[in-house]
Amino acid sequence: MSTVSPWKRDFPIFSSQAHPDLCYLDSAATCLTPKRVADAMHHYQCYSHANSHKGLYQLSAKVTECVERARCRVAEFIGASSQHSVVFTTGTTDSLNLVAYSYVEEKITADSNIIISAAEHHANLLPWQRLCQQYGASLRVAPLDECGAIDFTKLVALVDSNTVMIAIAHSANVIGRFNPVKKICQFARKKNIATVIDGAQAVTHGPINVNDIGCDFYAFSGHKLYGPTGCGVLYCRTDLIEQMRPYKVGGGIINNVTYDNCSYLSGPLKFEAGSHNVVSIIGLVEALDYLDDISWKDINNYLGSLSRYTQQCLAEFNFIKPVITNSVAAIELDRGLAPYLYSFQLDKVHSHDVASMLDSENIAVRAGHHCAQPLHKALGLNSSVRVSLGLYNNTADIERLANALKHTYQLMAVE
Ligand code: ALA
Repeated sequence: MSTVSPWKRDFPIFSSQAHPDLCYLDSAATCLTPKRVADAMHHYQCYSHANSHKGLYQLSAKVTECVERARCRVAEFIGASSQHSVVFTTGTTDSLNLVAYSYVEEKITADSNIIISAAEHHANLLPWQRLCQQYGASLRVAPLDECGAIDFTKLVALVDSNTVMIAIAHSANVIGRFNPVKKICQFARKKNIATVIDGAQAVTHGPINVNDIGCDFYAFSGHKLYGPTGCGVLYCRTDLIEQMRPYKVGGGIINNVTYDNCSYLSGPLKFEAGSHNVVSIIGLVEALDYLDDISWKDINNYLGSLSRYTQQCLAEFNFIKPVITNSVAAIELDRGLAPYLYSFQLDKVHSHDVASMLDSENIAVRAGHHCAQPLHKALGLNSSVRVSLGLYNNTADIERLANALKHTYQLMAVE
């Protein structure tokens, strides 16, 4: 198999002299930026910038319109029925903290419990851990099945009448398997338990449908979608927004303020205190348009087959140990939902040494615990190497990676 990415040329970094021969395999950490996204941001910042939702002059009114159009664009991408359920945040971490401190904190007591899964990124663990510590509540951890997805039956066994939230990844950042989020949200809805889905790694697979999933909240970041950092989204069911109190307060979110009290706006603006990060919002919308113009079907066909090729190439080496042994077989079962990431250990070589050796050949991968320390501990690992794919990768990148891993093993493996 030999494929050349038709989209690599859209990313200026690959023609820059600063990074000759870059083989970038860390898109799960952040995707590189296409020129058209950078151009749109540059154009906005040079020629259209003003503060949104505040000025009465035309320049500012246009920026306000632009932010509100962006809200509609994002609502379309996530299949939300209304743009009023789209809150702009700084990223997934900010979105999840918002749910914790504007929604769950209002409900939690010492009797409560919150359920997460064993595979969560620290962003979907620490807000819940802190809330539980603050209120004397308990954090329950749903185990994974042998293929690395959340075990639905075991999760259900943790639920009781004091469960106030189920917070889980759509697709976790080390294992990459898609979790049965729809089934879990349907179950939770019947029990009147709130759900939040961390979609940071799932959105790269294309539009999602929050109504179909049936979640109450869905969080993601623009930079995992070829947009800039600094702009994320929280989908909130509109009826919940009206019940929630902003935990972050300041300008732009009120109806009325006195020295003694205030009343908040209704809708998403009440969670967007301060000035909007308009340039990043512009970048996110341009990235969504770029991906739509390519077509999600073509993107997923391309990355799906590159993902399978990566699994096959790495499976040929018996010194490569996937973090979940059965994950390769499971991926075959999930055709169409092949993860665009693959985590493993190299026998007898520390992951940091693997990453440094690869870096010496201009191959960028992530190594360590990937902000999922408890997961690594539960799997009996101190760290892993993670390879993740983006639109600019092709089979030559995977062959370079395979050769470099072989070379690293031959040089570094110690008995
Ligand atoms: N959440 C990002 C990752 O998994 C940073 O690498």
